[in-house]
This record gives sequence, structure tokens and C-alpha cells, in this order.
Amino acid sequence: MKQFKRHLVTSALPYANGPIHIGHLAGVYIPSDIYTRYLRLRGKDVIHICGSDEHGVPITIKARQEGLTPQQIVDRYHRMNKESFEKFGITFDIYSRTSAKIHYETSSEFFINLYEKGEFTEKSIQQFYDEEAGQFLSDRYITGTCPHCNSDSAYGDQCENCGTSLNQTDLVNPISAITGSKPVKKKTKHWFLPLDRHEGFLKKWILEDNKHWKGNVYGQCKSWLDQGLHPRAVSRDLSWGVPVPLENAKGKVMYVWFDAPIGYISATKELTPDWEKYWKSTDSRLVHFIGKDNIVFHCIIFPVMLKSEGSFILPENVPANEFLNLEGNKISTSRNWAVWLHEYLEEFPDKQDVLRYVLCASMPETKDNDFTWKDFQSRNNNELVAILGNFVNRTIVLTNKYFSGKVPPRENPGKYDREVADQIPEIKKRTGEYLEQFRFRDALREAMNLARLGNKYLADTEPWKIFKSDPGRVGTILNISLQITAGLSSITDPFMPFTAARLKKFLNIENIGWEDTGNIDFLKPGHQVNPPELLFEKIEDDQITKQLNKLMENRQASEKAATNIEQPKGIISYEDFAKMDIRTGTVLKAEKIAKTRKLMKLSVNTGVDTRTVVAGIAEHFDPVDIEGKKVAILINLDPRKIRGVESQGMILMSEDPDGKLVFVSPSDDATDGSIIK
Ligand code: MF3
Ligand code: ZN
Repeated sequence: MKQFKRHLVTSALPYANGPIHIGHLAGVYIPSDIYTRYLRLRGKDVIHICGSDEHGVPITIKARQEGLTPQQIVDRYHRMNKESFEKFGITFDIYSRTSAKIHYETSSEFFINLYEKGEFTEKSIQQFYDEEAGQFLSDRYITGTCPHCNSDSAYGDQCENCGTSLNQTDLVNPISAITGSKPVKKKTKHWFLPLDRHEGFLKKWILEDNKHWKGNVYGQCKSWLDQGLHPRAVSRDLSWGVPVPLENAKGKVMYVWFDAPIGYISATKELTPDWEKYWKSTDSRLVHFIGKDNIVFHCIIFPVMLKSEGSFILPENVPANEFLNLEGNKISTSRNWAVWLHEYLEEFPDKQDVLRYVLCASMPETKDNDFTWKDFQSRNNNELVAILGNFVNRTIVLTNKYFSGKVPPRENPGKYDREVADQIPEIKKRTGEYLEQFRFRDALREAMNLARLGNKYLADTEPWKIFKSDPGRVGTILNISLQITAGLSSITDPFMPFTAARLKKFLNIENIGWEDTGNIDFLKPGHQVNPPELLFEKIEDDQITKQLNKLMENRQASEKAATNIEQPKGIISYEDFAKMDIRTGTVLKAEKIAKTRKLMKLSVNTGVDTRTVVAGIAEHFDPVDIEGKKVAILINLDPRKIRGVESQGMILMSEDPDGKLVFVSPSDDATDGSIIK
């Protein structure tokens, strides 16, 4: 492979509309962190770029649901996700965000640049428009039935059931996700990136020049190219996003997938004035770590953008992973089927490396893979505790016991000792080769072979049995075991940085680079090591049962919520709300209306007057329970005669999914007649 002077590594910018879960970690951030840590260990010039992706319709939908602004939503999750990554030791050189000023500037310049070069086409197209909400519906603002698989929860841009990417006008029975109404079609102008113009270039660049890409990535690209490419709209009629920086583009923003990858560039600019060195010189190597749902954007669309601009390098590799499942089922935010990082940390503070280890060991590198809590437990107990922890512990304990913690010299090593010592650099070499090929599971297994080697060495030589008769030989064995431990303190750093740091602390060393990993003379005789501490602890069955129960409970709760709770109603204006005159009142008198089952006649002091209200609550309450009760009453509702009695208002009640009624009660110190608003 070509020798590069520097490495520009990016990790997919996660959407700031929810927390991070193990699927994100296993798919993108563990591999990218392992890779960049490895390059740093080798002393390479590398920067690792990430940040929050803060545009797109799902963020605006979430904001509406919660009654917040999109900026408030992204502020919350940006902070939360940044912190999760830090706590798991994911070392980004910068974690920026696409609502940053520098990003608005960078993406606007980029857009104008392509526009001025004539790299866009412009077209007026029919789009769905919600007359009630007074806005165009793009991407996830519109749902309907998929024309391919008939799933009734397809979105305007994609059907998640069959994975097909859609044009919104393909949807059968389209419905607005804002008001639930049936949208109409209306003409609107947009800018398009004519991917079809670049087909020839892409075919050569990907299918011929990038044969070294992973099979899953290459295969997906090939299938896109075989199907033929079409122009993609890069603008949207929305208010949240980077405004299209052209005249007569009022109310239009860039498509989120246009601005987000430019976020890698803006973040690099924010990080260093030298950013062009990384993005614009051919001796830099650009590598994008992503999940498989991002392949088309990073292998086709973004490269076309970069190439159309003309001064940027293209990715040298895009090592996308497949998906991680959880206990046999797809991870799902809406069904709350996930292990969230912030919740994991509450249960297992200080066990970040255990999760990093397990997620790396079951990384979905070539096909989807499954995370199970049982596997988590057994890998911890049988591998981390029994192999790595056990070896290190015995080595450090024996060194302290026999040599007061001072590294003993190697006296007359025998054939077996030399064989063991020779294997250390071999293991390191293979680990590095695997890492360079993005084969993280193999690399981790190989790194653990170093601990296996040490464990077997101690088991075979049993130094604890021969100290009395042959202390010199024990010194040799422990010297080699300590050199193995030093190797472990470096080789584990990409995978388990917290463990690597602790090993260095045990050994009382500051740093050990990749060149010294496997150096049998790294620790000098006489060097003082520290007393041992426990490296990993066993995870018991009840801890695992607790996690499994929690998953099941979460799922049941979210299923119940999904089936019973009514869908949110459409947005109304404040003016609509303010039309309702709701007051605090007191029930003066209550009586059942004769010959009815449900009806009760109430006399209520509204502060303004005393009025009569008919309420359907007789099955739920006794008159005596209600008299004297503070209530919320809507007093400007059109009066209506019910069973001969004129009802002059409405008492506010909540009704839960199984029909139980509860009063919405102002507290007793509220004055009758006070306005509820
Ligand atoms: N936010 C996207 C996702 O989570 C990834 C964006 S990657 C970028 O799928 F390149 F666009 F930044
Ligand atoms: Zn479908």
C-alpha cells in the first residue's frame, strides 16, 4: 500500500436526537477508536474527527413532541453524547457540531462553490404540502404505505421495513406526520446533485480502484451503480437546517445529508488552522468509519460532492460495519430495545473496558452480530478475569513476593524461555497487521494471545514451586513474564485503554510505544514495580439476570405505551389555545340524574357565577366525594341540553387507557375564578 504522511479518520456524526447505545459503539466508535489509538501508538500523524449531526426532520419532530425548539433538543443530546464518548475513552481530537457557526459558513461556501461551477441542476417538482400546518412535508414528515412491501410505516425518503429508498410521491396513502391530515401536491423548486453525470467516474474509482474495500461495502456500491444513479435533491422546504445560500431560496435549507458530511471538514477547521494539509494533500489518507446504512452517502454522494468541488481528497477506505443485534432482536429506540451507554455506566461504573472488549470481540464486521448479556458475562469471567487478569496478577504478586517488587535479571534462559520470548514480537506483528486490515476481532484475539502465552508459561514453569531450590530460574521466568506484561500494557491500549493505563501503573512505567512492544529488554533489572491491584472482577449471575429483566421490562412498558397511549394530536397555535376560558371552580352540589347510569348534575362556583354542568361521571364517583372539590372548568363551551338539563361548561378530567377517570384538580389554595392557562 502507498505510504501516507498523515491520516484523517472520521467517525459518523451521530444524530443529536437521542442517546448513544451499544450498536453505535460496536458499529462505528469502537473500531475507529481502536484504529486511531493504534496509529497514535505507532507515532503516526493522525486526527480523529467527530461531532453531532444536528439537522434533519427527526430532530424537529422530537422537538415538536416535547414542546421544545430543535436547538434545545440538540443541545441536550450533544452534551450527553459527548460525555458518553469521553467516559468510554473514545478519543476524538474534536467533537464538534453542525449547528456551529463555522459549519454554517463552511457548508454555505461549499454549496455556493458547486452552484457557481454549475454542478447542480434546478427543477420544480411536485411535493406533498400540509395545508393545515402550512408547510411542505419532506422525508420523515410524511408517512404512508410502501409501494414495494406494503408496510404501512414507510417514510417519505425510505421504507425501513424493506430498506428501499423512496421518493415521497411513490407512497400509497400519504399522511402528514405533523397534523395527520392528507397532504396535497404542490410545486416547489429544488437543487439537485446530478449523480448520473458522475456514473463513469464512480464506476472506475470504486469498482476498479477500490477493490481493496471490504466486501460488504464494495458489494453495496456495486449494486447502487448497477441500478443506475439519479439526481438527488440537496435542498428541502424546512426551517431547521443550513439555509440555502442563494437568492430566491427563502424557506429552503440544505438536505441534512448534504450538510452533515461537510461537518467533517468544518470540525477539522475548528480543530486546526492546518486543516487543508489533511483534506487537500494527496499524501493524506482519509478513512470514514460508518455503519452500513451510511454507505451510499460516504461512498457515492459525498465523494461526488468532494470531486465536484475539486480541491479535496477522496476516502481511501470506508470500513463500514453491519449491525449489532441485542439478545436476538434488532436494536430499536422506539421499542426501547437497547443498552444505552449512560445506563450501562450507572450499572457498571468502571467497567468501560469490559464493554469495549465484548463489543470488539463480537463486532459485526462482515455480517450482523448479536450481543447477549450471557456472552458479556462469560467473556468477562473466562477471558478477562481468567486469562488477562490472572496472568498479570500472578506476575506482579510473585515479583513483589520474591524480589520486593524489583525486576529480576534473566539468568541463563533455556530453550523454552527463548521460544516464549520470541513469540512476543510475533504476536505484536500479527495484531498490527490485522488492525491495518480493519479486522478488529482477529486483532483482539491475537492481542489476547499474548496474555494466553504468559498464562501458559507460568502454568508450565510453576515458579512458585521452585523458588527455594532455584531462585535464579524464578528470576528469569518473572523477568520474561514482566516483559510480557509490559507488552500487554501497550498492545491492549487500542482495545482497552483504561486497562492499559492500569498495567502501566502496576509496572511503574509512563509510556511504551509500538516499537518497544515485544522488546524483551524494555524493563531493566532492578526497576521497581508497584504492589498489585485487582484488574478485573467476576460478574455474577444475578447481575446478568438483572440486566435481562430490565430489558424485558423496558420492552413491555414501551409496547404497552405504544398500544394504549393515543397518538399525539396535531399542533395548534397559541391563539387556538387561548380561546379556551378555563377556570378554577368548586363543586357546590352533586346529584345523579334520575334514570341515567352515567350522568351527574353538578352545581359549580366558577368565581364568575354559579352554573350547572352535566358530567358523565356517575359510575366513577359518589356525589358526597365530589362536593367541595376544586375542579378545572371550561366555561365558554357552547351550552348544550343533555337529558333536559342545560350543561353550561365542562369539567376537565383525564381518562387513562383502561377508562379510569381522574379529576384534573387545582390545589386547594387556588381561588375560584382564577384563569388556568
Ligand atoms: N447522522 C447520521 C447517522 O447517524 C450519520 C451522519 S455521517 C455524516 O446515520 F457524514 F453525514 F456526517
Ligand atoms: Zn417497503
